Amino acid sequence: MNSFHYIDNILHCEETPVQEIVEEFGSPLYLYSKNQLLDNYRSIDGAFEGTDHTTCYALKANSNLELLKILQKEGAGADAVSAGEINFALRAGFHPSKITFAGVGKQDAEIAFALKHDIFSFNIESIEELAVINDIAGKMNTKARIALRINPDIDAATHPYISTGLKTNKFGIDINVAVETFKYAASLPNLQVDGIHTHIGSQIMKLDPFVQTAQRVVDMVKELRTLGINIQHIDFGGGYGVTYKNAIKHPFLPLEDATSADETPGNNAFITSVLPILKQVDCKIVIEPGRSIVANTGMLITKVLYRKDNGVKKFVIVDAGMNDLIRPSLYHAYHQIVPLTVKEGEREHVDVVGPVCESGDFFARERAMPFVQRGDYLAILTAGAYGFSVSSHYNARPSVAEVLVNGDKVRVIREREKIEELK
Ligand SMILES: Cc1ncc(COP(=O)(O)O)c(C=O)c1O
Repeated sequence: MNSFHYIDNILHCEETPVQEIVEEFGSPLYLYSKNQLLDNYRSIDGAFEGTDHTTCYALKANSNLELLKILQKEGAGADAVSAGEINFALRAGFHPSKITFAGVGKQDAEIAFALKHDIFSFNIESIEELAVINDIAGKMNTKARIALRINPDIDAATHPYISTGLKTNKFGIDINVAVETFKYAASLPNLQVDGIHTHIGSQIMKLDPFVQTAQRVVDMVKELRTLGINIQHIDFGGGYGVTYKNAIKHPFLPLEDATSADETPGNNAFITSVLPILKQVDCKIVIEPGRSIVANTGMLITKVLYRKDNGVKKFVIVDAGMNDLIRPSLYHAYHQIVPLTVKEGEREHVDVVGPVCESGDFFARERAMPFVQRGDYLAILTAGAYGFSVSSHYNARPSVAEVLVNGDKVRVIREREKIEELK
């Protein structure tokens, strides 16, 4: 399914022309497809049929409350990394028994907040954190259900900033001391050791790192059981990669230079490749996908403000900036950029840049693009994940609006911030 497509050379989201939406709601604008969101969630969750599991959507990818409510109604759980995200999940109606809490730096007040709400599991990232949670749970006269996040030392072959399963990364507990750490955790009176957790990185395009990790996790569950530590659930994290290049193909659009490594194996394949391994130990399975659920549900629409040619380069200056979508600046991430109306004709190589006062404020460099000029709109595709949620007010720029499309219906799911509202 691709909810963003051209009909008669005009870009549509589901059944609605994008130009009509942006003319009504203004630019820059995040625009999401409800049916793409549902389709993505179902393609992941449906792969588990017959298996005891929860798909805990990773809120960090996009925590818009209306999107959360849609996923909650579908039966999803929530993966949070702060008290703020737990609170978002509760506000969206997620049951606490479906909320996990990860992160290397949980604050005492956040731990107390999660304990008060009796969430499903704390995913513990260090030995010191175990002692702190045990202490806080004791003072609150309760027990914390926990899983230990294991760092399996597996190369996920992704960008170094989003690789999390190597020894050089700050995440999880070194696999070589994991068994000792489980024993220590089991000795603490206010902890209930329930699970094992792992998450090796994000935007992973190969199945093999997941298969290797699954084998390591299952071996550890078996070993722990011989020691009397009866693991009940495996939280296998997220990280399933999505296709950013050639997300939309059209004869009037340049074909982007891509290899098979740029193409996702598909949501379903990520699950079916590891499920037979994980099922060997008869545990409940939890996963925490973020990007694979929301990335291709969203795009950022931006207006061309100016063109500039300095003799060396051509620039297309747009009204969205790195504060609205930081992925290209932060990771040199690639997003396809397309006009809302495609025409046969001239192409040129341009840098698409924002108005922020940083040379790193760009969306594309030396990109082959159809000719566009002041007043035209561009769609920056596959921007639903780590887009709005990582946005900032840098340069005192207000947050952009977000709208949701369902067929031919469009509604605002976040009002555009006004400059008077900036603090
Ligand atoms: C612990 C944890 N779980 C889940 C995710 C979601 O990852 P993704 O959006 O790649 O599926 C992340 C993101 O890095 C994470 O750190």
